[in-house]
Amino acid sequence: MAKIVEGSGGFREAYLQNADGAVRISEHGAHVLAYTPAGQHPLLWVSKEAVFRPGKAIRGGIPICWPWFGDHPTDPEKPAHGFARISEWEFGDVTDDSATLRLTDSDATRALWPHPFELQLAVTLGETLTVALTAHNRGDEPVTCTGALHSYFAVSKISNARVRGLQGCEYIDSIDNDTQKTQRGPISVSQEVDRIYIDTDAATVIRDAGLSREITIAKRGSRSTVVWNPWIEKAARMADFGNDEYERMLCIETANAANDVIEILPGKSHTLAAEISSST
Ligand code: BG6
Repeated sequence: MAKIVEGSGGFREAYLQNADGAVRISEHGAHVLAYTPAGQHPLLWVSKEAVFRPGKAIRGGIPICWPWFGDHPTDPEKPAHGFARISEWEFGDVTDDSATLRLTDSDATRALWPHPFELQLAVTLGETLTVALTAHNRGDEPVTCTGALHSYFAVSKISNARVRGLQGCEYIDSIDNDTQKTQRGPISVSQEVDRIYIDTDAATVIRDAGLSREITIAKRGSRSTVVWNPWIEKAARMADFGNDEYERMLCIETANAANDVIEILPGKSHTLAAEISSST
């Protein structure tokens, strides 16, 4: 039975449960905190050090980066990854099978991004978990935005994980001065990885040999995919990330990043969606 309760940090949380699995969503940031397909291990990772506080992004789950991905293009004072993940959204309909949340512009958002907008997050729990972020331009000028569904996946051990689906893609390597490179073969992680794969609408698959599990992330409205693991030193620098937790997670982010900038005309909208499933 779907229910809304007071959850971590005092933020309202929705619990969805049906024959396909269970999902937990915080109203803070419209943040999907947990997804467990029926009879399986949890798919999403949340740090034991995660902080649930107004104005702070939750470390793990699926943070929503919008209306910009990463640092603001011109103003380093503005919050990294935009304001959607640190804003207070509002639940709409919540059932056993789905939930919607909404965020509209306010004085606080217009101070950071001077445009009228309406964002809707639709979460649907079926054989796949669909997370769809729709941005409506409510103003009378075109707007441009970037963003991501910054999904943190749980892995048994990072050395057990291989990512397929990006072979042959070009990527921007953020830890090598943004050098552009070509992906050869599946991705394995044995050091810090921070890459934007460009010009790709392909689904990615995380094969976890430890759990004998494959997580598939298909997508819509996205031509870029970010792969991130902070590894040892960056993990140690983050207060809300346990020192050895880099071994248990891998971000595969359904993105509009780098050259994948979205223009939304007045009265129009753009949907960025991830369809997450797993098989064991
Ligand atoms: C990733 C970026 O998407 O998010 C990384 O590519 C960044 O560079 C990471 O470190 C986490 O960002 P934040 O703002 O949540 O610490």
